[in-house]
Amino acid sequence: MADPVFAQNLFRGTADSYDKFRQPYPRPLIDDLARRTGADGTGRLLDLGCGTGQICFALRDRFADIWAVDQEPDMTALVRQKAEASGNGACFHVLTCAAEELDAPAAGFDLVTMGNAFHRMQRDAVAANVLRWLRPGGHLALLWGGGPTDGTAPWQQTLRDVGEHWRHRAGIVDRVPAGHEAARQARPDAEVLREAGFEMTGRYEFGFSHEWTADEIAGHAFSTSVLSEAALGDLAPEFAADLQRVLLAAEPSGRFRQDGTFACDLACRPSAGPPAGPALCASAPAATDPMAVPAERPLDQIVRHQAGRSHRLGARPSR
Ligand SMILES: C[S@@+](CC[C@H](N)C(=O)[O-])C[C@H]1O[C@@H](n2cnc3c(N)ncnc32)[C@H](O)[C@@H]1O
Repeated sequence: MADPVFAQNLFRGTADSYDKFRQPYPRPLIDDLARRTGADGTGRLLDLGCGTGQICFALRDRFADIWAVDQEPDMTALVRQKAEASGNGACFHVLTCAAEELDAPAAGFDLVTMGNAFHRMQRDAVAANVLRWLRPGGHLALLWGGGPTDGTAPWQQTLRDVGEHWRHRAGIVDRVPAGHEAARQARPDAEVLREAGFEMTGRYEFGFSHEWTADEIAGHAFSTSVLSEAALGDLAPEFAADLQRVLLAAEPSGRFRQDGTFACDLACRPSAGPPAGPALCASAPAATDPMAVPAERPLDQIVRHQAGRSHRLGARPSR
């Protein structure tokens, strides 16, 4: 069964808030990904659903050539601007296009990344495309990270409640298509990727601790597809003021600490092997059976960094 389809313009108008208020992927996650995939500054990267370039700018020194692709023109406009300002705009190829419709060279990429985006796509079609676009032995990395709503602190419950209240008040009801969660549970990402021909490598998790201000939390809300300024319309300023007021009542210190997790699910296009033998991935550790775990935790080779942290709160797709 095909995945339910998200509307195309859900991130319209969010680029500035997205760039300013989203937490960056932790440097250790980026370095670990580069190491596992053998990124040495010579290859080509494709960042699909690139947003404002959270992944491709973090990896820019590891590739000679970078394709940054997003269907939202506001996002790609900002990526173009940042690429030019960075001084190495020449190595960036920025395209406004849906991942399902991208025209890219077969076997043309060493690494394809998707940060908080694969779950929004027609996963079978995109997985088939990515397999074709990767060179044999090349890698696909799905990166995940949540937002300030992820957690069990009282202020986080308050935050979820306020968001729910304003979504109802503003009539924001159609940002996640019906059947989305069910489709993803019925066929976890790892299953989709395996059926497309990928070999699953592992999940690598990185804990973080972050302190937000009420102002930053309101900015983060505007960066989401469910509480963007475009979705809230004229109610946006009232929402932001209410959010900050309620948060400060819940936590008068004005400091909102979050412990969470970012994750990277790594897969590879098998190198051509002997017909009867196992397929092999280059530059990656051998995989155990990634399918033997529940939907919420698609890969069973989970490597946790910052060992000793007990939180299991993040690494969910952000909205
Ligand atoms: C939550 S943002 C993630 C941005 C960035 N990759 C990150 O990791 O922070 C999801 C992005 O995926 C884009 N997107 C969603 N579906 C897409 C599709 N089918 N093709 C291309 N881009 C898509 C959205 O426009 C949005 O910019």
